[in-house]
Amino acid sequence: MIVRITLPARSAGRVILTQGCRTASRVPQRVKSAAMRTSAITNQFTESVIREMTRVANAHGAVNLSQGFPDWPAPMEIKEAAARAIMADVNQYAITYGAKPLRMAIADLYRNRYEMQVNPETDICVCCGATEAIISSLLATTNPGDEVVIFEPFYENYGPDAWISGATPRFVALRPTNINGTVRWMFDRDELRAAFGPKTRAIIVNSPQNPTGHVFDYNELRIIADLCVERDVLAITDEIYEFITYDGHTHIPIATLPGMADRTITISGLSKTWSVTGWRMGYSVAPADITLGIRKVHDFLTVGAAAPLQEAGAVAMRMPAEYYESMLARYTVRREFALNMLRENGFKPVVPEGAYYIMADFSDLRRSEAEDDTAFAMRLVKDIGVATVPGSSFFWAKGPNNPGRSFVRFAFCKQEATLVAAAERLSKLHA
Ligand SMILES: Cc1ncc(COP(=O)(O)O)c(C=O)c1O
Repeated sequence: MIVRITLPARSAGRVILTQGCRTASRVPQRVKSAAMRTSAITNQFTESVIREMTRVANAHGAVNLSQGFPDWPAPMEIKEAAARAIMADVNQYAITYGAKPLRMAIADLYRNRYEMQVNPETDICVCCGATEAIISSLLATTNPGDEVVIFEPFYENYGPDAWISGATPRFVALRPTNINGTVRWMFDRDELRAAFGPKTRAIIVNSPQNPTGHVFDYNELRIIADLCVERDVLAITDEIYEFITYDGHTHIPIATLPGMADRTITISGLSKTWSVTGWRMGYSVAPADITLGIRKVHDFLTVGAAAPLQEAGAVAMRMPAEYYESMLARYTVRREFALNMLRENGFKPVVPEGAYYIMADFSDLRRSEAEDDTAFAMRLVKDIGVATVPGSSFFWAKGPNNPGRSFVRFAFCKQEATLVAAAERLSKLHA
């Protein structure tokens, strides 16, 4: 198949990397007005740039450091558990809000790790990935006209999630800030306070954060929590990278802060910790009344997550401490490798405190002022053979004012051989 890449098209301020294989003459006349045949909400945003970059990487045979999925095998214990469940004919719908063994395992994990009291009968909704848990939570808790505060740069889904729910996103900047020689992505306390208005219903807190790798420490979480309590606002958290933190940074669920247990929806899942992004297994943990709302939305959206994989999920969540230690050791080595690779090839990476991404400033590698992040990412994928994500896709502003214009995001959740191949290719940037 021949795939042509045409660049860049823009819609609602977001870059679209369009595969140019459909030409106007071959498209039936009535399809040309597609925007009129789809809802106003869907016309507000495009498909994900992150996931589009994987398709572009495949089309060019590039080393894919764009999308955040590990390219190594999942743990044998959980694959065997999944296979056992399929062979035992666990084939029919599980309880919509999650099979009991998985809900019990989730409740135990939260009690043992975070001293959180979670009732598996009333406080958990197992979903098709954290992705579904986040949008089900927003649909369950926001009304049209409500505002949702989102830290920027942000994981691409949150904007569309808010719009689909009828809410309006309000962005608060995280800026690279030098603190005693260490660069951290920090928010301004007054800006955050100003974003909490009369319409604010919820704040999305993603820690460890994608794309920056920022891990919100206790003081930062306390500022957010105090505002939530003062203004009667919900925290919807995305803790999908909770087990991946470096250099002594630790993950603290905001639900454990004073006054927050009753106003937090804690969301996580199996994708990242157990390297099974394709299993689509996530969950929410929240007070019973809120969980009831999430369960209702989830029931009518998807009915439930894959039943045999829920059995395997219960096994995953009961794995011993050594599993988490070796998983983290693997990421720690790769982070060092990726940071060195980027520094040696002219990038200025901001060292991530958690997760498995690096936001890297490529200003010194620009061919001209006109080469923005999208143009640079396309040069990288086509001429060098390495796929990244343009930094602007994690920010809302359009054009030259987009703070992501000088950044590309690298994912380092890849086998050593994949990273070595990327390093070899990136060295051609100087040729
Ligand atoms: C911050 C964040 N949340 C959620 C997800 C998706 O999670 P899941 O696979 O559980 O839907 C990702 C995937 O990259 C992510 O980076």
